[in-house]
Amino acid sequence: MTVQPAFKSTDPITLHPTIFIILGITGDLASRKLLPALLELFSKKLLPPQFSIVGFSRRSFSREEFRDLIREHLNVRPGQFREEDIKHFLDHMTYEQGLFNDPAAYTRLHLQLQSIDDRWGRCSNKIFHLSVPPNLYEGILTHLSNSRLTEPCDDKTGWTRILIEKPFGNDIHTARSLDKMLGKLFDEKQIFRIDHYLAKEALQNILAFRFSNPMFEPIWNKDHIDRIHIKLYESNGVGDRGEFYDSIGALKDVGQNHILAILTLIAMNDPGSLGADAIRKERAKILNNLKMIPPRKVRLDVVKGQYVGYTSEKGVKPLSTTETYFRIKAYISGSKWNGVPFYLESGKALAESKAEIDVYFKKVKKAHWNSSSNNFDVPNILTFRIQPDEGIKIKFNVKTPGYGFDVEPKTLKFKYSDVSSFHDAIPNDYERLLRDAFAGDQTLFASTEEIIASWKFITPILDNWSELPLVRYEKGTKEIG
Ligand code: BG6
Repeated sequence: MTVQPAFKSTDPITLHPTIFIILGITGDLASRKLLPALLELFSKKLLPPQFSIVGFSRRSFSREEFRDLIREHLNVRPGQFREEDIKHFLDHMTYEQGLFNDPAAYTRLHLQLQSIDDRWGRCSNKIFHLSVPPNLYEGILTHLSNSRLTEPCDDKTGWTRILIEKPFGNDIHTARSLDKMLGKLFDEKQIFRIDHYLAKEALQNILAFRFSNPMFEPIWNKDHIDRIHIKLYESNGVGDRGEFYDSIGALKDVGQNHILAILTLIAMNDPGSLGADAIRKERAKILNNLKMIPPRKVRLDVVKGQYVGYTSEKGVKPLSTTETYFRIKAYISGSKWNGVPFYLESGKALAESKAEIDVYFKKVKKAHWNSSSNNFDVPNILTFRIQPDEGIKIKFNVKTPGYGFDVEPKTLKFKYSDVSSFHDAIPNDYERLLRDAFAGDQTLFASTEEIIASWKFITPILDNWSELPLVRYEKGTKEIG
């Protein structure tokens, strides 16, 4: 496997001692995503040489108990890491017990960070990750600010960054107030808003594919593309996240963020550079150009559904009308995409788990060809498979061999799994995101402009949500009405 060096050795800031503080380290997100990704980076020697993780949470543990808990949470498969690496990784961790609403706990945390800095003899960089439910963000951010924990020493000798997870707010109003609060405490350069879909390898590949293959870009517009269908299907139900999920539903869970992130990469203009600012700006333009769906059209252009059995899931209210499925027909204004429908669709408990994008090109006008073949107007479809089984597929027509002039559709496929050097090199989403947060690269993180623009599109739909009928579908359904 080829491992890319994470930091340029000449870059004094990223090689600088760094502390990663996980607020809510005993939670699900830390154990499923953060800690395994940090261990992976550590084992690949992609973390700064002086590095420490400080966990903060409500529960009280002895040092040994904490170590055992983290080891268990890492959920390491036999042979996945060298035992020595796991031990060293655990040696870099310490714990501070405290209640999220207790100012004294933040003072203790401050002292703990200070003692690490004293040991290293430097003011270290600090990354704070809020691994807590969003309703705790405001309180935690206020305490972090009051305790001056997030104040950098200065730009050169120790920066501070904050990593937060979606959902960023609950609608345009709460998103704005969260943003305002973040803006008071941090500069935009310090805020890393995680939408882990942006870090998916096959999704980033869309930009590489579009802008490095000149054969597609000239026809990437309304004159040649008929429609685009973005799908994020999951075969699982809500599992043990019932209570949380029931309070937000599919549209806020994946629509406002992951699905719109995919849309931006499919639809955006050439950013002209690979810099974070240029790419984020182009993504934001697409979101800003999404046409708001007026109330009278919501019923026509939006479908919402709920799988049968959802209301019996643990944590879900028995009479819940929360959607587990949605499909939206969206349009982007401007000369490039005017009139092209973008179908945005996602659901739980569907027939299969897959994330993919189908780009349907316009059909040929059969009359031009004077052919009796029924297949002459089968459209070309370009499919980007994001997961599982990452790849690209192109459906095109070929002449059926023989004396006639019939055509039939065939498919060209490229799969990452067919190229071992590709398949093995796909970084896990969180690994990629954390590495970029250490390095200060914000390309794969959502900007404030993107967040606000996405809520501007989603909020009017939500305002009319209760007007929409809730389609009940059986688990394992392939297509929903
Ligand atoms: C999360 C949602 O953000 O993304 C989950 O909260 C969803 O409901 C998940 O299952 C999908 O992510 P992935 O990477 O598993 O496709």
